Amino acid sequence: MTSKLVYLNGDYLPINKAKISVLDRGFIFGDGVYEVIPAYGAKALRFEHHMQRLQNSLDAVRITNPLTNAQWQEVLDKLISETGPEDQYLYLHITRGVASRDHRFPDETKPTVFVMSSVLQPVEPALLEKGISAVTLDDIRWQHCNIKAIALLPNILLRQQAVDQDAMEAILIRDGDITEGAASNVFIVNDGVIKTPPKGKKLLPGITRDLVVELAKTHNMPVEEVAITEKEFLAADEVWLTSSTKEILPVTRINEQQVGNGKPGAVWRDVYEKYQDYKETLRQ
Ligand code: PDD
Repeated sequence: MTSKLVYLNGDYLPINKAKISVLDRGFIFGDGVYEVIPAYGAKALRFEHHMQRLQNSLDAVRITNPLTNAQWQEVLDKLISETGPEDQYLYLHITRGVASRDHRFPDETKPTVFVMSSVLQPVEPALLEKGISAVTLDDIRWQHCNIKAIALLPNILLRQQAVDQDAMEAILIRDGDITEGAASNVFIVNDGVIKTPPKGKKLLPGITRDLVVELAKTHNMPVEEVAITEKEFLAADEVWLTSSTKEILPVTRINEQQVGNGKPGAVWRDVYEKYQDYKETLRQ
């Protein structure tokens, strides 16, 4: 369920009344950026981190942030309370605005700002018990995957290719190394060491990823942000995917081959529980 009201350019409206121009550059060019923020106990998880990533995305595409963090907080709080007491995820979408169709930036446009909140369905227990299937695919995306751009055609094509092969996620490979999933970050465990590819332009700096790394470090678990070759990846004892909406998912089949012993691993379980404990602190 999506919030009864959504935010569009300063107004709170029922979703069927929220309309934008067909000349919006988001519609015409995919010219914009977005954020997805989970909220537990009516509190956005890692609000400042999400705001910083949003600012980085906006700076990278040269759109001025239309709201202050306090104003963003106000919008999120209003939509969360409209949606109800359930866990939710907020979707924030900013485009360069409305202008006649021309590739170059328009001289003066006001960014379009759209925000909605939806109930966050918990991950099905069966998936956590059995783990999920993934396939590896060539990372066909661009050179700026650190920007959370709304233009997601490659990600969508890759995800669908995975689904067509009865898998839940595509895990992407560029120049022989793992980058990330179509809509998630990737972790492996080898000989007890947790590894995830380093941040840079080849992947989105996931907020969940960073939290997992932080939780592991806080609990003195060995964790490394290092390049992971396809070969190392395919021989990993455990593979996990992280994202704001799916948290930490264990992957137990890759390209129809079993990962480790074919069951979600002990290190995953440990980190998953620590993540749940962290979430609980927001509800207090
Ligand atoms: N996507 N990498 C990509 C390409 C993503 O699209 C996402 C999340 C992540 C994980 O980032 P985070 O932990 O901050 O959610 C990594 C969101 C959930 C989406 O597009 O719906």
